[in-house]
Amino acid sequence: MTQEQIITKTIQFVKKELQDAESGHDWFHINRVYKNALTIAKEENIDTFVVQLAALLHDIADSKFNNGDENIGPQKAKLFLESLDVDAMTINHIVQIIANMSFSKSLDNKELFNSKELQVVQDADRLDAIGAIGIARAFNYGGYKNRLMYDPKIKPNLNQSKEAYKKSKAPTINHFYEKLLLLKDRMNTKTGKKLANERHQFMEAFLTQFYKEWNAE
Ligand code: ADP
Ligand code: NI
Repeated sequence: MTQEQIITKTIQFVKKELQDAESGHDWFHINRVYKNALTIAKEENIDTFVVQLAALLHDIADSKFNNGDENIGPQKAKLFLESLDVDAMTINHIVQIIANMSFSKSLDNKELFNSKELQVVQDADRLDAIGAIGIARAFNYGGYKNRLMYDPKIKPNLNQSKEAYKKSKAPTINHFYEKLLLLKDRMNTKTGKKLANERHQFMEAFLTQFYKEWNAE
């Protein structure tokens, strides 16, 4: 199979796997991350094939929707790529990226797998967590989980362990302070940083307006 055929097969597989996904983690999310990743990859000297496959497969079984199990996603990706006869080194790299790129993983203070390719996919995924799309995704996820939008009495928690972060039932506005507003300073690539800055400013403006309306007399 050519690389192009492998990509086509992977797109079909991911679309099917994500048929009933919550709208912040559905095929459209994957497609946006895929496009972001290709934009960023253009500026870097890296293995584009690995970036493409990792972007496409990074959320096929998010632990959030699988009883907290962090191994299902990487394992599913591995089995799928093996079924297409992708070579073992490439599969291993992609699986490592998927297993190590998430924000919650980074809260663990453990040494994580890293590569240029991981950095590109991670930036692409993080861009989709901020800006107008990021705001929409956060409130969609909060609604899906039946969370409050905002409660001035519940303060954000900036020093959460990975476990506390994952268990949190805090209002969606808190998620901006616990994750979304932190992302711009954690971008890995030059292009990622540039794109993140604009999206960050938009979130700041949104929050200012949100409090203004909330506190209107
Ligand atoms: P990762 O999947 O990288 O570990 P998250 O678990 O924080 O990162 O989830 C990815 C996306 O899901 C976020 O960018 C956000 O849109 C949404 N999300 C996750 N947790 C929350 C939350 N507590 N409130 C609102 N949105 C959330
Ligand atoms: Ni994602």
